[in-house]
Amino acid sequence: MKINSISLKNFRNYSQSKIELSPRINLFLGNNGHGKTSLLEAVWICVNGRSYRTAKSKNVINFSNKSAEIEIRTTNNDSINEIKVQITENKKKFLVNDKKNKNRSELKKILATVLIDREFKENLEKSFRPRRLILDSIMSNISLSFSKKLQLYSEEIKRKNEILRTSKNDDILDFIDVRLLNLSHSLSSERSLWLSRITNIAGKVLRKLAPKNSLDLNIKSDSLDSESLNSALKSNRIKEKITGKCLVGSHKDQISFILNGFDAFEFGSEGEKKSVSMALKISEILLLKKVNNDFPIILVDEIGSEFDQKRFNFFYTFITSLETQCFITANNKSVLDINKSKDFSIFSIINGDCKKIS
Ligand SMILES: Nc1ncnc2c1ncn2[C@@H]1O[C@H](COP(=O)(O)OP(=O)(O)OP(=O)(O)O)[C@@H](O)[C@H]1O
Ligand SMILES: [Mg+2]
Repeated sequence: MKINSISLKNFRNYSQSKIELSPRINLFLGNNGHGKTSLLEAVWICVNGRSYRTAKSKNVINFSNKSAEIEIRTTNNDSINEIKVQITENKKKFLVNDKKNKNRSELKKILATVLIDREFKENLEKSFRPRRLILDSIMSNISLSFSKKLQLYSEEIKRKNEILRTSKNDDILDFIDVRLLNLSHSLSSERSLWLSRITNIAGKVLRKLAPKNSLDLNIKSDSLDSESLNSALKSNRIKEKITGKCLVGSHKDQISFILNGFDAFEFGSEGEKKSVSMALKISEILLLKKVNNDFPIILVDEIGSEFDQKRFNFFYTFITSLETQCFITANNKSVLDINKSKDFSIFSIINGDCKKIS
């Protein structure tokens, strides 16, 4: 499915704007702070229900207004052709073809989107926890079964932490640990499987950039082996009661990517880390294509920074050659040099006003 147009009303720094889009590549040029990311955020909210930039939905309402509205219109060969989101101080309303929308997962499937931005790389390089969380969000996007397992596991961990903080009752903790043993093993095994697939595809992408590139996955996890998980759960019980936190299980898995023999996010240069991040995102796109039988819409916020010319050209060409609709932002015109296709629409964004320039 493609997005034909997007209309914004009092959304971030946009007061009123309607943008007619190309079914292929849409390039948004603008200086810092003029509204490029806000536009991608608006598309994301329509499909995913919430912003990736803020947990407070009222933050997207223009400072001098009390409500905001986003409307996207899509091609007509599917059942969905208009999605509207109305946001007020304490409410968010979704309308699909003017009816209240209940089935968000169906919408996510029909209008799947993949976001490539600086934050993805930043999360990968911070530490094991944000890395695991951001990779889990990719896998949840690809696999409903993984997403369900993750949710069940998180609920069980919450329950255990509650007991560890309150009664510390061993019988209840034993009971929860039996459940955790299965859930944790199953979740980490599925995580490991998806990550192997993702790494495998990312490795192939990196080899197109340079044939000698190699990318391997390294997972440190007690949960992959039921016996070692069981003994870790037992030996940590006292420590867990003291800290009031569950210290063993899938939520402690440590994921690393080994680029040409070294840990990419520990020792890699900025350009190398960005290349691995980009290759992992391309994997997500290709796997979503396999699962949904259709490419997702690709949102790229600032593809250029940290890349040398060779890497920039490679990734830019790779992304734009995928047969899908892309929204790409850039804060300088150098990207125009490699836009040779007729399928490009180029927009200029100045102070929350987006105009097509070619
Ligand atoms: N609720 C809001 N109401 C009005 N303006 C807002 C609101 N939230 C953010 N802004 C402003 O909107 C402007 C556009 O922000 P946005 O992040 O879209 O810029 P950008 O073009 O992506 O910039 P950069 O190139 O620096 O990433 C910024 O000046 C920001 O401070
Ligand atoms: Mg931005």
